[in-house]
Order: sequence, then C-alpha cells, then structure tokens
Amino acid sequence: MTRENTIGNGEITSFVLEGVKSWEDPRIKPEWIEQILNCRNSSGFVPTDDDVRRHLHGDVLTLGFRNEIVVGFNCIEFKSPKEVWGGLITDHELPSDPGVYLAGVLIDGSAQKSGFYQRMNKDRVTRGVEKGFNIIFTETANPNVEAGIKDTLDSMKENGQIVDYSMEDRIYLKALYGRRMYTEAPKNAKVSFDDLNYDAGDAYAIIFHLTLK
Ligand SMILES: CC(C)(COP(=O)(O)OP(=O)(O)OC[C@H]1O[C@@H](n2cnc3c(N)ncnc32)[C@H](O)[C@@H]1OP(=O)(O)O)[C@@H](O)C(=O)NCCC(=O)NCCS
Repeated sequence: MTRENTIGNGEITSFVLEGVKSWEDPRIKPEWIEQILNCRNSSGFVPTDDDVRRHLHGDVLTLGFRNEIVVGFNCIEFKSPKEVWGGLITDHELPSDPGVYLAGVLIDGSAQKSGFYQRMNKDRVTRGVEKGFNIIFTETANPNVEAGIKDTLDSMKENGQIVDYSMEDRIYLKALYGRRMYTEAPKNAKVSFDDLNYDAGDAYAIIFHLTLK
C-alpha cells in the first residue's frame, strides 16, 4: 500500500491514490469498500452497491478518513467532455480539449457541510490547472455539486489562482440514471435544479471554462 499523498483537514485526512483502474485495485482495502457503502446509506443518495463500486476508479481517487474510517471519496479523470459524453450527448458541440472530469463523489451524511467537499474540489481543480487544463465538467442531479464547484472557482479567482471562469448552459440529460437516485431531491440555496424529474433519474451535464494565468 502506498500513501502517495496525504492532506490533513482537521479531523478528516485525505488519502490519494493515482491511476486506479477499478475497485479491485489491491491498494483499496476490502473494509474500505464496506465503509464507502455505509457512507452511501447516510448520504441521501441511493445508488446500488454495484454502482458505487463501479465509480471507484480514476486518474485520481481520494478517500477521506475520520478516525480511520472512510467518510467519503471522490474520483477524477483527465479527459475531454467529448471523450466522456460523445456517445450520450449528440445534439451539442462538446469541447474536445482535455479537462478535469469530476467522475464521482460521495460523502457520508455526518461529514457533509464540513468543508471536506470544498477542500476536495479545490484539490481536484488545482490538479487540472497544474496540467494547464481549463475545463472542469461533470454530470449530476445534485445542485450542491454545481454550487460547490462555483464556490471553489470563486475562491480560486479571489486568491489569484485562476483569472476567471464561466459555465456553459446546462445540458439536460433526460432519465440519465433511469430511476430515482435520491431519497429526497437535494436542495441548495443558490442553485436550483427544481426542473429535474427526480423520479425519472434526470440530471444535468455541466461544463466550466477557466481562464488561466
Ligand atoms: C454532493 C456532496 C458531495 C456535497 O457535499 P456537501 O458537504 O453536502 O457540500 P458542501 O461542502 O458544499 O456543503 C453544503 C453546504 O454547507 C455549507 N458548509 C460547508 N462547510 C461548512 C462548515 N464547516 N460549516 C457550516 N456549513 C458549511 C456550504 O457552504 C454549503 O452551503 P451553501 O451551498 O449554501 O454555501 C454530498 O452532499 C454528497 O455526497 N451527496 C450524495 C452523493 C451525491 O449526490 N453525489 C453527487 C453525484 S453526481
């Protein structure tokens, strides 16, 4: 097992693995998978066990630990929107330059609204900026995801880490998940996704363009 990078954040410590092909990567302990499935149970998000496992891979996989128990993960891929969504979205011109694809995030209910998500977002965007990538993108039905990315980019702009950013119009992905994915539709004070049909599993594709220094 290699601790490739650790970042302290109060009581939650991040453990970063690079080049993870699947959840069966030997660096991921079986008990961590169980703990991640437990995170799902208190998160308000109801993917199947297989859905959760299938998301555990990426160019960078970050696990958050509190008292040696996993309380969340996120994964990113360095790809272009065209590579990721080309087969799914055919009625929009998708950027073909590489960027940071926010491929999956899940945080235990007890670790939400703790600053952990924001710290992970900053790390994810910074990794792309360091590579000279100016696109950040994801698909989601959770307005907290869009709001969180905007908060991160606002603070990076304030700190002078990026010059500016803009978001393309959201692309509506009808019945992307094919079923209801949230016990209750997630809400955010600044961003509304009220147009989505949560029962049908609708989502949005969102793409941010950054102006780098
Ligand atoms: C999406 C998800 C990762 C976001 O994490 P989160 O912790 O809820 O998000 P945030 O850190 O942005 O926190 C939400 C709110 O708490 C606030 N907050 C953050 N840290 C805080 C702190 N230390 N004290 C008080 N409030 C805080 C944030 O400002 C934010 O409020 P705002 O949007 O009104 O500004 C999490 O909700 C989750 O795992 N959801 C289920 C899985 C899911 O939907 N994944 C996405 C699938 S695509």
